Amino acid sequence: MIGARALTRRFTVGKQVVEAVRGLDLTIEAGELVAVLGPNGAGKSTTLRMLTTLLPPSSGTAIIAGHDVVADPAGTRRRIGYVGQGRSTGDYFRVRDELITQGRCYGMSRAEARRRADELLAALELEALATRTSETLSGEQRRRLDVAIGLIHRPLLLFLDEPSTGLDPRPGPISPDISGGCIGSWGPPSCSPRTIWMRPTRWPSG
Ligand SMILES: Nc1ncnc2c1ncn2[C@@H]1O[C@H](COP(=O)(O)OP(=O)(O)OP(=O)(O)O)[C@@H](O)[C@H]1O
Ligand SMILES: [Mg+2]
Repeated sequence: MIGARALTRRFTVGKQVVEAVRGLDLTIEAGELVAVLGPNGAGKSTTLRMLTTLLPPSSGTAIIAGHDVVADPAGTRRRIGYVGQGRSTGDYFRVRDELITQGRCYGMSRAEARRRADELLAALELEALATRTSETLSGEQRRRLDVAIGLIHRPLLLFLDEPSTGLDPRPGPISPDISGGCIGSWGPPSCSPRTIWMRPTRWPSG
């Protein structure tokens, strides 16, 4: 499902080159739950941004669900959902409208986007907030909306950056029918993920 080879990203800031990710190899199979751990600045967000086509790698390759992130970014995006580390919603959009708009951006018909939005509002217990604007939501409610947006187009796989930040642990499962098996619940996962440890490139190797 994910195959990355020698994935590298450098940033140039003024005269300084920051190597955020160096030579990352990654193989993740369909159905796996994987947690990428590491200290601040280890390159987790940069990796996710490369795997989700938001940032071109400086070198290396990444194939996501059979699509090369550089050669076929549109094909990749159709198959993935992405919940970024920051908020992904506009302050002044109403919750349900935001979901429908995002669905339309993925090419869903109006009726289909409405149906899917209502399904996700129920699954993430956002129904009572459907007509509220994002700016009126609590941090946790807003984070749940982020997760709903990541699932709107029924992605094959879901990338979550710092998924549990701001989310309380919840027993409430999200049915595989809704999430496509991407996640079983929100908040910390109920089953143990495979963990991958990233270390900052500035740390000595060994
Ligand atoms: N646009 C950018 N320009 C310059 N440097 C950047 C840029 N984005 C990230 N970096 C640098 O790359 C390194 C990795 O950053 P990244 O955000 O990927 O880390 P992270 O593991 O997600 O950290 P955190 O746990 O704090 O979210 C850091 O040193 C960061 O300063
Ligand atoms: Mg980060």
